[in-house]
Amino acid sequence: MEKYHIITYGCQMNESDSERLAGQLEHLHYRRTETPAEADVIIINTCCIRESAENKVYGKIGELKHLKQRNPNLLIGITGCMAQKNKKALFARAPHIDFVLGPYNLHHLEELVSQKQQTVASHTLMTDMRAASIEDFTDITAKRESNVFAWVPIMQGCNKFCTYCIVPYVRGREWSRPLASIRAEVEQLAQEGYKEITLLGQNVNAYGLDFKNGTDFSDLLYTVNEVPGIERIRYMTSHPRDMSRDMIDAIAACPKVCTQMHLPIQSGSDEMLRRMNRGYTLADYMELLDYIRIRLPETVLTTDLIVGFPGETEAMHADTLRLLETVEYDMAYTFIFSKRSGTPAAAMKNQIDDDTKRRRLQELMDVQNEISLRKNQAMVGQVFEVIAEGPSKKNADNWFGRTSGNKMILFPYQAGMAVGETMQVRVDRAQTWVLTGTPQEGRSTAI
Ligand code: SAH
Ligand code: SF4
Ligand code: F3S
Repeated sequence: MEKYHIITYGCQMNESDSERLAGQLEHLHYRRTETPAEADVIIINTCCIRESAENKVYGKIGELKHLKQRNPNLLIGITGCMAQKNKKALFARAPHIDFVLGPYNLHHLEELVSQKQQTVASHTLMTDMRAASIEDFTDITAKRESNVFAWVPIMQGCNKFCTYCIVPYVRGREWSRPLASIRAEVEQLAQEGYKEITLLGQNVNAYGLDFKNGTDFSDLLYTVNEVPGIERIRYMTSHPRDMSRDMIDAIAACPKVCTQMHLPIQSGSDEMLRRMNRGYTLADYMELLDYIRIRLPETVLTTDLIVGFPGETEAMHADTLRLLETVEYDMAYTFIFSKRSGTPAAAMKNQIDDDTKRRRLQELMDVQNEISLRKNQAMVGQVFEVIAEGPSKKNADNWFGRTSGNKMILFPYQAGMAVGETMQVRVDRAQTWVLTGTPQEGRSTAI
């Protein structure tokens, strides 16, 4: 039996795309292997958000060269964002690559692999944007990693053009998946026993705007909230400019929508936000947050931050540190600005040196880690509902699950526990990244 191996970099969107790549290969009766050396097809689904992400991919491509020398029939494919960005330059750099598929061309995998004799010789390149209908890809049956949690792509692309970001160039403009297609997938998932879904898009709050018929993200939330069997609905990622009061009201009105919100701010300085083209001021963001805190008081709030954007002064950096103290996020993902060629910020003057960037990153992390720990400590003694995800990677005697707010809690395994079981867990101990707890009596609502 022929086998495939998929390596995924980047965001949840890529993880979701990889499941649809796997689905196509399963349809050809290929089976997944964790061992690259025994694979007949190897795919690297790539990310190019930062230079470091690209370097990792190049390293991995290099590692595969000897496998191709040993097995000339092996097919190696590069897919995703970096495929779109670098196109045929990838073949020049690594001639052992057989095909390169951009994010809008992933649905061609099945046909490509089934005609593999010609493909091997041809260095196939498919990087058209919007050549097909969005459902050609979104409606492919995914081979999912989990039987309980499922990614559901709701749109492709981004119109925001933040000046540092490569995503609009490689993922194209916002393109929404029809509501009926999303509903059908969620209903199917519920029938298969899935309990938790995550609606995925680069900017989910822009969902449906391209239909120009009044449909928006609130409508989508109300629709999926009605699907029986689904217990939890998450969504990723929100944009402060497009998150409306109506959407916050919809979240409040839909009991299945989780108490987690990822709302990237990027910087605490108005001058930086303007130069990043984020489309909001600090005051706008804080006003939105006030409404969120009133309507959704339980919300576990997380964010993304960039340090060392061109022209960032010590005072601007101090604004961001102050922002962290004011907002008290549960967690912040902090990134060092990385020049992406073709984006406006890459050509801006006053680039910040590496040492300064690293120091600023550390300062943000030091402030945030203390806040994250404090937030977690406040959960000690309380009981939370979690859905069991299975054994912890570090110690299989411990299982873990996540709260509605997406906090991870470890708890000791007890006989009879099942993956996907909804249970009540009391938090006993808090660390910066994880909590430890004890399952409570009457926990069994196993699927
Ligand atoms: N669409 C989402 C996520 C985009 S990528 C959003 O707008 O929030 C995830 C994060 O990567 C961004 O929020 C940003 O903080 C970071 N990022 C994007 N481009 C970057 C770059 N060139 N350098 C450093 N960080 C970057
Ligand atoms: Fe990139 Fe900005 Fe779009 Fe997010 S909103 S994907 S950061 S351009
Ligand atoms: Fe990376 Fe593409 Fe996601 S660049 S972060 S994989 S959209």
